[in-house]
Amino acid sequence: MYRIAEKKILNPTVTQLQIEAPLVAKKAKAGQFIILRVDEEGERIPLTVAGTDPAAGTVKIIFQTVGATTEKLARKEAGDFLQDFVGPLGVATELEGLKKVCIVGGGVGCAIALPIAQALKNLGAEVTGIIGFRNGDLVILEEEFRACCNTLTVMTDDGSYGKKGNVTLPLKELLEKGEKFDRIIAIGPLVMMKFTVLTAKPFAIPVTVSMNPIMIDGTGMCGGCRLTLNTPAGKVTKFACVDGPDFDGYQVDFDEAMLRGRMYGAFEKHAHEETCNLFKKEGK
Ligand SMILES: Cc1cc2nc3c(=O)[nH]c(=O)nc-3n(C[C@H](O)[C@H](O)[C@H](O)COP(=O)(O)OP(=O)(O)OC[C@H]3O[C@@H](n4cnc5c(N)ncnc54)[C@H](O)[C@@H]3O)c2cc1C
Ligand code: FES
Repeated sequence: MYRIAEKKILNPTVTQLQIEAPLVAKKAKAGQFIILRVDEEGERIPLTVAGTDPAAGTVKIIFQTVGATTEKLARKEAGDFLQDFVGPLGVATELEGLKKVCIVGGGVGCAIALPIAQALKNLGAEVTGIIGFRNGDLVILEEEFRACCNTLTVMTDDGSYGKKGNVTLPLKELLEKGEKFDRIIAIGPLVMMKFTVLTAKPFAIPVTVSMNPIMIDGTGMCGGCRLTLNTPAGKVTKFACVDGPDFDGYQVDFDEAMLRGRMYGAFEKHAHEETCNLFKKEGK
């Protein structure tokens, strides 16, 4: 069992937990993830390691309440326990040799992007941050990004905070002005990553994207997280849990990934409603 050391609510749907998991805290690197189960009957869900404190033995996770399991997790309090907390899983983001990087984060994807921006700063790279949210109430981690980015632009779809528009707008402006990034790292909704790649393409700047397909075992055995890459050698199937979650954005078949992501929609909606009804019955 894994104790929740601390809980912080970042916005109405995003929660941060510090979990006591000393072995994971010692080994995890930026870009890796864990798989947890809230309780014995719970489903396994992957969440990115948003930070570690090896001395305290804690691992930070930041998650959005989107369905049954994240709903249950968000209702846990400091001092409660989680059934399983397995990791670190996946391949850490490759950062060696990067000197000038643009990090593009969307929504809760910013929780995944932040430890990468922090790791780049620690390696001495120049980091340009662009983070985007639907509206001002949903902005998270702005101060943390300011602390590790040389410049930061905050965008909201409705203009209620920062600048109005989506994240590709300032990215395009920077690229048109002649900014030469070694790499763009984009993390957020599939559609945001797809359009970040299309924005970068005319400027031939490499783009890394972090893929988050449905994962079941997280060990490369079940095939649940498979993705198609269009490589120079033809179509290649990869498993996000062991080959990723980071991939070359120019190779990912985003349209197929979006279709696969919607496959379990009806089942997930039903499970979420059941969980909410259960909490209501229990008066929570
Ligand atoms: C490598 C990886 C890292 C992730 N990191 C984060 C993170 O740091 N913060 C965060 O908020 N979310 C993260 N996610 C997404 C997170 O796993 C899902 O939001 C969570 O599983 C939803 O579960 P649910 O039961 O609450 O919702 P459900 O109602 O079951 O599903 C809602 C949506 O969540 C996604 N989802 C559901 N089950 C899974 C699953 N087993 N694996 C992957 N996605 C699933 C699907 O897109 C689905 O449509 C990550 C996913 C992956 C693959
Ligand atoms: S989650 Fe099963 S192969 Fe990746």
